[in-house]
Amino acid sequence: MQATVERHQLDRVRGLAKQLCGIHLDGSKDYLIRRRLNELMVDEKIDNLQDLLALAEAPYNRKIRERMVDALTTHETLFFRDKSPFDALTQHIIPKLYREAVGRPRLRIWSAACSTGQEPYSLAIACLESLPERSRWDIRIDASDVSVGTVEAAKRGRFQNFELSRGLSPQQQSRYFRREGNDYRIVDEVRGMVNFQVNNLLTSTPPGHDYDVIMCRNVAIYFTPADRRRIYQKMASALRPQGSLFLGCSEVPTNVSDLFKTVPLGRATSYQRIG
Ligand SMILES: C[S@@+](CC[C@H](N)C(=O)[O-])C[C@H]1O[C@@H](n2cnc3c(N)ncnc32)[C@H](O)[C@@H]1O
Repeated sequence: MQATVERHQLDRVRGLAKQLCGIHLDGSKDYLIRRRLNELMVDEKIDNLQDLLALAEAPYNRKIRERMVDALTTHETLFFRDKSPFDALTQHIIPKLYREAVGRPRLRIWSAACSTGQEPYSLAIACLESLPERSRWDIRIDASDVSVGTVEAAKRGRFQNFELSRGLSPQQQSRYFRREGNDYRIVDEVRGMVNFQVNNLLTSTPPGHDYDVIMCRNVAIYFTPADRRRIYQKMASALRPQGSLFLGCSEVPTNVSDLFKTVPLGRATSYQRIG
């Protein structure tokens, strides 16, 4: 009986996760759901899963739904993760935009599913370190995530020492971060280059359009094939013609040959918008 009740509650959690952020949690993730929601319940002083679900399903309780999204999504990330797309940006895309610019060179980037900010801040650092005639460029880096808590953390731009050591050289750590108490805060020059917003890839409009580069890495793996296809369609229409989409290094999109052509850029695979 107890097991049946619990199974039913976990099904409701799965339904909410799908509805709130599109992620598909199958039965193999039950241990993860239990652990993450237990932490949330302790934090919010909620006695049991039944009460948490009742609160989350009530129409007036946006805060608890946001906290459930924070808890049920996976935020693993690091600076310059899978470095090859950053090399593709600095060694192929930026030089080409610079060569072909008529007037002021322009660069628009969207880090979709940016988690706690390491990806867009790496993009900003990569730009600072590679743009020829930097002051002439018109640059915009948008970064978004469905999780309110991670977007708030990303905006604060505060990291712990171990986070800096995952992906940044000692020179980059001292050039782009200032120590504040036990944390390290990203310098204003980098922070000011990134515009953060909460955005659900499945239901929101992209933050901008005509992007030269979109990074949508390590998130589509959590969606159903049909939702993945919808996201790739959205990415294709948010890119400028010939703009490049980068996915996580183990992600191979299927059923997108009408939207993108695969173009190797150095060691990275980019998906270039057709048309
Ligand atoms: C594993 S992290 C990837 C972070 C970064 N892109 C990287 O590769 O290092 C996945 C992120 O996707 C976000 N996410 C999950 N569902 C989403 C959705 N429907 N819309 C936008 N972001 C979503 C999660 O909140 C999480 O921060």
